[in-house]
Amino acid sequence: MNRHSNRIAPAKGRLGVLLPGMGAITSTVIAGILLARKGKGRLIGSLTQMQTIRLGKRYEHRAPLIKDFVPLAGINDLVFGGWDLFPDNMYEAAVKAGVLGRWTIEPVRQSLEAIRPMTAVWDPAFLKNLKATHFKKGRTKMDLAQQLMDDIRAFQKRTGADRLVMLWCGSTEILPAPSPAHESLTALEKGLRANDPSIPPSMIYAYAALKLGIPYGNGAPNLSVDVPAMTELAEKTGTPVMGKDFKTGQTLMKTTIAPMLKARMLALRGWYSTNILGNRDGEVLDDPGSFKTKEKSKMSVLHTILEPDLYPQLYGQFHHKVRIDYYPPRGDAKEGWDNIDIAGWLDMPMQIKINFLCRDSILAAPIALDLVLFLDLAKRAGLKGIQEWLSFYFKSPQCRPDLDPEHDIFIQHLKLKNTLRLLMDEEVLDHSGLDYYDPEKGLPTPAPAAKPLAKGKRETARAR
Ligand SMILES: NC(=O)c1ccc[n+]([C@@H]2O[C@H](COP(=O)([O-])OP(=O)(O)OC[C@H]3O[C@@H](n4cnc5c(N)ncnc54)[C@H](O)[C@@H]3O)[C@@H](O)[C@H]2O)c1
Repeated sequence: MNRHSNRIAPAKGRLGVLLPGMGAITSTVIAGILLARKGKGRLIGSLTQMQTIRLGKRYEHRAPLIKDFVPLAGINDLVFGGWDLFPDNMYEAAVKAGVLGRWTIEPVRQSLEAIRPMTAVWDPAFLKNLKATHFKKGRTKMDLAQQLMDDIRAFQKRTGADRLVMLWCGSTEILPAPSPAHESLTALEKGLRANDPSIPPSMIYAYAALKLGIPYGNGAPNLSVDVPAMTELAEKTGTPVMGKDFKTGQTLMKTTIAPMLKARMLALRGWYSTNILGNRDGEVLDDPGSFKTKEKSKMSVLHTILEPDLYPQLYGQFHHKVRIDYYPPRGDAKEGWDNIDIAGWLDMPMQIKINFLCRDSILAAPIALDLVLFLDLAKRAGLKGIQEWLSFYFKSPQCRPDLDPEHDIFIQHLKLKNTLRLLMDEEVLDHSGLDYYDPEKGLPTPAPAAKPLAKGKRETARAR
């Protein structure tokens, strides 16, 4: 048997976390990790920090924490750096973002103040509502990519990081028109040298990362690494990539409720979603170009989950509408409303209403931490190119162009955990459970009496 676990390089030394875009999510992630290191905060929502993974048969009661099962970097080993269009340090950015109160971040204020963004790559053609004050100058886009690579090398030297990961936490860009420059690495490099207008800043960062073999994740709906030129480069340099757009608020709800409707064969007539939010992300999305990029990412999920081609009677004609309104008084405390018109037995209509008062960056921060740790694991495990097993974290998961992305959160979750099992040479779980009742399989029947569980261990024993 091909033992994967023997091939995973250990997570020795420091892991440098490079974050293009140092606004609400980035400051919330960094503050959270610094607070957790001091025992002043819990990293709720993070699978790598809090979730267990069931191994083997149910009667074995093996359910270690994921972080004890796979060799991940520890939160004490992370060092942070990044770029932004504005020079605010991470304390100032956190205060402006208003996700965490000043009193919450006070214990780590000095450490946050010490993290300052490097000058960004900016192109106003891709971002209408922000006027940058802190950006690089370069004759060509290739010059800018080289400057980013210099920044990365200097960061690594300064911090002593042994390995690096880059996670895009910058704004949503206006989508570039499809272009030959996206189609192959040769064309992309030519385009970078010729200032091709179809290459947005996020692609320049991604190019710099992949050239240096640094895993790249994309938290925004930007095209970024989701073009053949970038996947070619990722394959060539043996680098894991994954995107797009962190799955938080409304899409988290959608990809949870829609699989239930389909599992129970309930018809969908319409799904109307609207949001208000007042942070900088909301300001950027107030521009129709950036909104279009986001809308595309949010719209795709229902069709791929519900498969109207297979179920035309149930899902052939539903109406789907997504709105996002910039409403400054709410800051990061987003509010989403969903009205879902469904139908059951004899076409009788029913409705589901969801009113989610969420905090966007509080939901995004654990995703960012998990992605950093899993992308680093992927690199050490020798995985390269698109990491579809990380679809769980994305609104618009990247996958092979000839496949449909997997949006169902429960399948995504199983896929993630089964990949971890495979990497560690453990049995992949299919949950059919037939073998528990089949004496031919040679399994103990009846199953041995379950070991009495210590108080508070029930969940662990039932873990998926
Ligand atoms: N907040 C969430 O929960 C959430 C959820 C899903 C996706 N997203 C996406 O994640 C991204 C970040 O969200 P946020 O809430 O932190 O937004 P934010 O506006 O608070 O921060 C983004 C930062 O990126 C910077 N930026 C923009 N272009 C840049 C560039 N070319 N180089 C360097 N920096 C650049 C901006 O100056 C800003 O400070 C957005 O694209 C958003 O759509 C956010």
